[in-house]
Parts: sequence; structure tokens; C-alpha cells
Amino acid sequence: MCGIMGYIGERQAVPVLLDGLRRLEYRGYDSAGVAVMNGGAIAVRKAAGKLARLAEIVEGAPLVGVVGIGHTRWATHGHPSDENAHPHADCRGRIVVIHNGIIENFLALKEDLVARGHRFRSDTDTEVLAHLIEDTYEGDLPAAVARACAAARGAYALVVLCADEHDKIVAVRMISPLIVGLGRGETWLASDIPALLPYTRDVIVIEDGEMAVITRSGASISRLGGAAVSRAPMRVTWDADAAEKGGYAHFMLKEIHEQPRALQETLMGRLPGERDVALDGVALAPEAARALEKVWLLACGTAYHAGLVGRRLLERLARIPAEPDLASEFRYRDPLAGARHLAVAISQSGETADTIAAAREARARGARTLAIANVVGSTLAREADDVLYTRAGPEIAVCSTKAYLAQLVALALLALHLGRQRGVLGGAQAAELIRGLRALPAHARAALDLEARVIEVAERIREVEDVFFIGRGLDYPVAMEGSLKFKEISYVHSEALAAGELKHGTLALITPGVIVVALATQPEVLDKLVSNIQQVRARGAEVIGLATTATAPALGPHVDTLLAVPPAAPLLAPVLSVIPLQLLAYHVARLRGNDVDQPRNLAKSVTVE
Ligand code: AGP
Repeated sequence: MCGIMGYIGERQAVPVLLDGLRRLEYRGYDSAGVAVMNGGAIAVRKAAGKLARLAEIVEGAPLVGVVGIGHTRWATHGHPSDENAHPHADCRGRIVVIHNGIIENFLALKEDLVARGHRFRSDTDTEVLAHLIEDTYEGDLPAAVARACAAARGAYALVVLCADEHDKIVAVRMISPLIVGLGRGETWLASDIPALLPYTRDVIVIEDGEMAVITRSGASISRLGGAAVSRAPMRVTWDADAAEKGGYAHFMLKEIHEQPRALQETLMGRLPGERDVALDGVALAPEAARALEKVWLLACGTAYHAGLVGRRLLERLARIPAEPDLASEFRYRDPLAGARHLAVAISQSGETADTIAAAREARARGARTLAIANVVGSTLAREADDVLYTRAGPEIAVCSTKAYLAQLVALALLALHLGRQRGVLGGAQAAELIRGLRALPAHARAALDLEARVIEVAERIREVEDVFFIGRGLDYPVAMEGSLKFKEISYVHSEALAAGELKHGTLALITPGVIVVALATQPEVLDKLVSNIQQVRARGAEVIGLATTATAPALGPHVDTLLAVPPAAPLLAPVLSVIPLQLLAYHVARLRGNDVDQPRNLAKSVTVE
């Protein structure tokens, strides 16, 4: 998620903009820039890299002015580079924009604008907005911005300067956050509260579909359709640290709660119709897809667990053999990877040494490589033949949550896409799954509502010594992910197993008081799972059941605690069932006083073997 800053008042704008952007650095970014109103023109300084580089550039070529906007970019379209950094200008440099989010239909808009003579300098979706406003500008900036927003589709926060209207800044919110800070004779804009705290605690949150015209005397807010909106300012009482976490105690909890949005943004623009998928960045041709004989899924840790789910999606929807393998194992096993194989490397950071090496090994043996990565321009993404970006935004906590959910959805999109290309997935089945994908953000929000119940469970088991996670079918990889979450931040020993394996050894460890988390979202194996639950309960285990509202009635009588997530299609249930497990791991770790965001011995990205 990009950082946005705006200022209009009596101070020199640049120091205010840079200071605000520095307070948003925790959000992660790859380039930065500022634009300042300067004597009837707009001066821009921008560059790839960190704010320190931008500050050097500005020091060498100072900007004078009391009205300006600033931006730190987390790339979604267009690699990190000087020309792709924001702000972006129209053809004449008279209209300058910064933007946070995604313009879904930017390619079509850009083609039309180019056909009408507009000259583009970058390959970002954002620049389209500057030219759209220029195209309809007739001396009324708010009106021109409204017309541009009517043409653009997607999720965004947009901030606009116009050299012909130097006494205002115009901003629009369409999903991505935007906040006004109010002062005496000065007004601020920011994408998040921490940037405003040194200047003001009086803020107005701009809501979706609203425009704000910012002047020295404050902000006038209206619906994009025109109706004025009256909204009282609110007083922020958070300190800066809490503000960075959006009021949550830890980044991990904030990112768990950002998951509905991460799903929404990862799906955005990729479900254009009812039966097919549009995968930007994946150039695999239909005939190559039909010729594929195998898919490898290479990853580490949580990303590997996503790969385990991906296998079942690919085999079920694309009818192609799929083999997940730990990247650290794949590279040393003389793998039988070959020319008609697709190696899917999954990685949040795109910098995990083992995963990069495994992808290189697969490519060296003739396989085509496809990266599922969360960081645009990361090593894995740059080296792969195809890239399918998860758009979860920066993931700060070491413990991966929202990126994992976005990986699952990316794998579902890939399986759908390959199934349709290979002619093995019918339109009706594809349509049903696409409806299920579209419902996921809302279902994820409903799953988050289980948090109060999960906290009760966490308080009861906070001193536990051993936890077992069991599941069958698609619930088994989710059990593995739940176990990893639990041990990596609560420091409590935990293990996951295929429920059918209990009687082959692990049952010897089930004694009175042991906690067993039983996942039961898959109807076709529900009866077998229930009998596994009876086996462990007969030996004194306390069983926490995790079902969907569809499987809950059958599971309820057999468990001590029942948690039920919304009834997603069984193939998509892993996207939802993991949410209560993330929350359980988080709250047990919190109650045990652990450093949740930076668990001992672990790093966010393991860039060494
Ligand atoms: C997840 O909670 C862990 N922090 C870890 O397993 C992580 O998933 C693994 O290191 C892979 O990282 P990547 O996705 O950046 O490649």
C-alpha cells in the first residue's frame, strides 16, 4: 500500500511532505516523489529507492512552495523505477496526481487516450488518471476529477494538483484510505494517521466514493455524484506506534484484519466475466497449457502450505498432476523436472534463497517458471517466465497471514485459468467457482467475527504444552498452516497430521488434557474425521472443532468447542478456515507475552540457505 501526503498552508511544503512520508515508511515502498506548486507551475522531484535518495535530490534542486503532495510507492503495475515513481503529470505538466490502489481498466483507458494524442511517460496505471483529468479539464478541477473517476474502475485514493488552481488540492477515496488533518490556516492529507500526528490530532476520514477539496481553511467533502457531505472531525488519541498499526496492538493482528481487502485486491481485475479468468503477467499460451504434463509447486514454510492446497486445486480443476515440494529439498533431489513442466514458485517476499534456487533448478531442467509473489520486482518475480502477483500489500509481521490467503486465491485463479485453457473445466463449474471467489472477501469478514470466541479459547489454553492439528483432504494442509502459526509465535510445541494417520502412531501421544484442533470443512471425509475425533476424545483429549456452517451440525456433538466459518465452496474453504487458526495463534502468543511481530530466532525473509 502506497503512502500519500498532501499539505496546503503557510509552511514550506517539502519538509512537511518528507516528514509525513517518513512516518509511513513502515508500510513498505520502492520509490518516492513530491510535487510542489511553484509560481503558477508545478515542480516534481521523484526517484526509485528510499526517501533518503529523494531528499538528496530535493536538496540538490530545492522546491519552494506552500502547497504540495508526496508519495511513497508500493508497486503494483510497472517495476520500481524513476519514471514509474509518483507523482505523474499530464501532457503539459499542469495537472499532477499521486495514487494508492489499482485502476483495473487502465489499459483500455490508456489505449483510448494515446489514440487521442496523449503522450505517456510511464507504464503505471496511475498516469492514466492525470491524462483523463487533462482530457476533460475545462477550468473546474473538482468536476474534471469527478469525470475521470467516473471512467476509471478499481480501488484507489487519488490526490490531484492543478497549476491553474493553485489554492486547492483535490482528493478522492475509492476503497484505499484517505484522511484529512485540520489545522489553523493549514490542512493536511494522508493515507494513514501516523503522518499527521506531529501536526494535528483533528482528522476527518474520507469515506468511499467521496471527494474532498482541501484549502487552507479546511476541507469540503462531497459524494462523487455531487451531494455535499457534512462530517465532524474526530480527535485521534493514539500514540504514533499504535497509529502505525492502525490502532491494533500488533502488525500481525492488523494484517489478519486486512485479509478481506487483500483478497479483494488480489481478485481485482482478474474476474472480468462469469466463466473466465484474466491473469495479468501470465503469458502461458493455451497450446502450451494443453501440452503441460506436470506442475511443480516450490516454496518454503507458509508458502509451501499454500502449495499443498494449490495441488488439489490444480488436480481438481486443471486435471494436471501437481507436486508440491519444499524448495530446500527440491534443489538437492535431482528432480525429474522437464520441458513440459510448469514450476510455480510461491513466495511473499520473492527473496527466499531456497525458493529462488529451486526455481532456477527447475528452469535449468527445461521447465517454465511462474512466480506467485507479493513484492513487485522481487528477484523471484524478475527471473520467472510468468508472474502472478498477490496484492496483499506490505506484510510487516514475520508471521505470514494476508499474503498466504492471497497466495491461495492466486493458486485458485491459476487452476481455473489452466482448467479453462486445457478444456477440462466446464463453463458452469467455472462460473460456480468464480461466484465463490467473489464472495470470499465478505466471507473472510464474517470469519473475523469469530475473534471473540477465539479469544475465549485462547484464554483457556494459554498454558498448554502440546497442541495437535488434524484434518483430512484439503483440511490437512490447513492443519499444517495452523500448526506453524501456533508454534512460530506462541512457542508452544505443535504438530499437524493427516487425521487418518493418528492410529499409525501419534495416538500414543494423546493423553488427558491434550488439545486437538480438528478441521472439518470437507463433506466427503466428514464421517471419517468424526470417528478420528471420537478416537482422541476417548483418550481424554479436549477437541476444538473448526467447521463451516454447513458441516457444523454434524461436528457439533463431538467437540468441546465449535468454531464455524461461512460455507465457502469446499475447494475454497481453506481460505476461510485458516482465519480462526491465525487468530488463535495470535491471541495465545499475546497472552503469553511474546513478541508477536518479531518472534525469536525468525526473520521475515530468509535470504540465506
Ligand atoms: C510464515 O509465517 C513464516 N514466517 C515463514 O514460514 C515464511 O512463510 C517462509 O519463510 C517463506 O517466506 P516467503 O513467502 O517470503 O518465501
